Amino acid sequence: MQKLLVTGASGFVGSRFVQRWRNAYSIIAPSHAELDITDAASVERFFVEHSPDVVVHLAALSNTWYCEQHPDESYLVNVEGVCNLAAASARNGVKFVFFSSDQVYNGNRECGALCEDVVLSPENVYGRHKLEAEMRAFELCPSAVALRATWMYDKEREGMPTHVNFVLNIERAIKEHAPLLLPVREFRGITWVRDAVEYIPATFELPGGAYNYGAECSMNTYETACCYCEMLVGLKAGPLLRPDYERYPEHERNLSMSTDKIFRASGGTVYFGSTMDGLRIFAEVNGLI
Ligand SMILES: NC(=O)c1ccc[n+]([C@@H]2O[C@H](COP(=O)([O-])OP(=O)(O)OC[C@H]3O[C@@H](n4cnc5c(N)ncnc54)[C@H](OP(=O)(O)O)[C@@H]3O)[C@@H](O)[C@H]2O)c1
Repeated sequence: MQKLLVTGASGFVGSRFVQRWRNAYSIIAPSHAELDITDAASVERFFVEHSPDVVVHLAALSNTWYCEQHPDESYLVNVEGVCNLAAASARNGVKFVFFSSDQVYNGNRECGALCEDVVLSPENVYGRHKLEAEMRAFELCPSAVALRATWMYDKEREGMPTHVNFVLNIERAIKEHAPLLLPVREFRGITWVRDAVEYIPATFELPGGAYNYGAECSMNTYETACCYCEMLVGLKAGPLLRPDYERYPEHERNLSMSTDKIFRASGGTVYFGSTMDGLRIFAEVNGLI
């Protein structure tokens, strides 16, 4: 059995990853208290003691607003933390796979599905730190794989944290009968976290580099919500959705990504389909349609 070191196992993605793959791999999943990724010496010691084959790095400060307010903390965890793990992976001959974010594209002005090789100029702290982490990780560990994940969703699950997300926002609007504003000038893929977790092992064999990772989407976020709500038979959520024309006044915010690179590099294994495909399957599996 391959031995995986999973960071961030108490988080939204990490908890689901461990639950899904705990019988297929020998998983070491230290808590934040057991392994602080910002402490380079502890990271190195951990590698030597446990000799993992692969690191699946999911620990981060993942809240973009929090990172904007606390840039130094964000830098320490989201850049230095990645560097510590990348350097230890390189020294110990370990495959290093980590989550980056579609937010690296938030300063781009191009339309349509963005490819990994466009020139990037992220406009917020989180996006800039994710991009710097990628660049420094590749310098330290050229075989590192950075997965530029989209925004992810899931319903609440017992014993696992769930952030504010697209389907929960809609669920809450329905429950509270409260209008929900959704940006018309934003384009982004949104992915069921189950799919993101499912494909992580297929990324262990990828050559080093950055890969867009998640469902594709050509609709704006308001349209995506309208289409999703049309599927939720009997819930009559549609009238609660309100188009927000004001958000992102400077330029349209296009985070939608092409996933051709990972599809080809994985020999066709990693295939997310469209955001609406994912939402339809999520709704079916969870008895919402
Ligand atoms: N969620 C999304 O929609 C989304 C979208 C795009 C990209 N991503 C990226 O995907 C990855 C996973 O995100 P997530 O949503 O699962 O994050 P999350 O729920 O916020 O979990 C973050 C995890 O990191 C741990 N952590 C924080 N600082 C640490 C440190 N210094 N040392 C060790 N562990 C530390 C946390 O432990 P404690 O809670 O104990 O501190 C927690 O387990 C992150 O890289 C995130 O940026 C997420």
